[in-house]
Parts: sequence; C-alpha cells; structure tokens
Amino acid sequence: MAMEDLQLGAPCHQAINNKAFNTPQSCKDGSESALCCKVIPVSMVEAWYFNPSDEDPKLPHKFTPNRPVPRKHLDELGMMIWRLDADKWEDNEILEKIKMERGYNYWDIVTMNPSMADYEEKVNHFFTEHLHADEEIRFLLEGGGYWDIRDYDEKWIRFRIEKGDLVVLPPGMYHRFTLDINNHAKAMRLFKGLPCWTQHERPADDMQARKVYMQNVLKKGDTTHVEGSASIPRHGEA
Ligand SMILES: [Fe+2]
Repeated sequence: MAMEDLQLGAPCHQAINNKAFNTPQSCKDGSESALCCKVIPVSMVEAWYFNPSDEDPKLPHKFTPNRPVPRKHLDELGMMIWRLDADKWEDNEILEKIKMERGYNYWDIVTMNPSMADYEEKVNHFFTEHLHADEEIRFLLEGGGYWDIRDYDEKWIRFRIEKGDLVVLPPGMYHRFTLDINNHAKAMRLFKGLPCWTQHERPADDMQARKVYMQNVLKKGDTTHVEGSASIPRHGEA
C-alpha cells in the first residue's frame, strides 16, 4: 500500500481542521489517539470527470477512456469521506467521535426508493444543481448513488457513494445527487444545530456560504492538477 493510501496524522489534520471553512475541530493534541489520526485500513472511493452524455443520470457517465480524479483534488475542494461499518452504526466509536468532534448533535434516518409517493419529484429535486448554507452530511446505510460536484473550472466531478460511506460536502459547494440504477438508499442525515435541509438552486452566488467557499477554496484552486489516480482513500474502519 502506498503511503498516500494511509490516513496518517497530516491528512487527518487536513481533513478535520478544515481551514477553508474556519471549522477549528481538530485532532486536538495531534496524537494518533485522536479521531482518524490512527493508521487504519482504508477503503477506496472512485471519482472521475462526468461525461455529459444523454444516458440515464443513474449510470456512471464516464468518458472513454475514463478520466479519474485524484483524492488530493477532492481534498482541495473541501470534501471529507470516511468509511464506517454501516451494520454497526448504532454502536460505532468512530461515528460517535466524528459527531462529537464536528459538533453534529442532530441525526435522523431517511430512505429513498420508488415506493415513495413523490419519488420522481425527489429524484429530480436532488439532481438539480444547488448548494446549502451548511454542510451536507450523509452516512449511507444501504444502497448506492452518485454525487456530482463542481470543479474549479465548472466541470462536473462525479464520485460514487456506497454503503458505509460518510460524506461531508462543504457549505457553498454547488452539487447534485442521484441514486444509482438500483433506486435505493437509506442514509443517516447529520447536522450541527437545528437541522435545515434547504436546497438553494443555482444561481446562489450572493449567499454568504457561496462567497466564503469561493474566497477560501475556489480562488485558491490549482487548475494545473494532474488527472491520474482513480482511487481516493477514505478514512476508514475495516
Ligand atoms: Fe445537497
């Protein structure tokens, strides 16, 4: 396993002490006993540039050949991803540490599938480009899907979310979501404070969260990154 595939102290600090959003939660003493600073096995998540073809949005939409996106690039855009044991979510030490250290004091569980009366409406709603004033935090307990996020140059980056993935999207990031062709997802939603799930559809450039994201992330963007590795290590638990 390459060194970059291990979640050591420095990557942990980069993820948790996310300066871009002035969230000072950190591995407080910098030791390896703090959240995710342990050397732990990692699973992989795949990200790639989205091919805007006419096929079903619930399909992968890869170019031929595929154009993979390296993990470092998602870090730069403010993403955080962990892999947890979704079958033990009710008694999961890492999940509890994440909730504590990031201040997530609210959670609930939602299910999305065609049995919902407003399923198609929901599908279209979530796949409409939007942002949030707060973090979007999802821990997938069942099913799978895709998130699309905007790159520095407005291209869509797509990554797959699977059972066990806990994903944090930063405030002010334009994005959209779709289930995969299996049309099923059960997810825990987490939030800091009173929950607010409001989607602000693009354009929402006047929102404070967008301005902060642009100032702290997009203006620092390095568009010279090299498209290379397809695999993005997650913070993880075997
Ligand atoms: Fe969203």
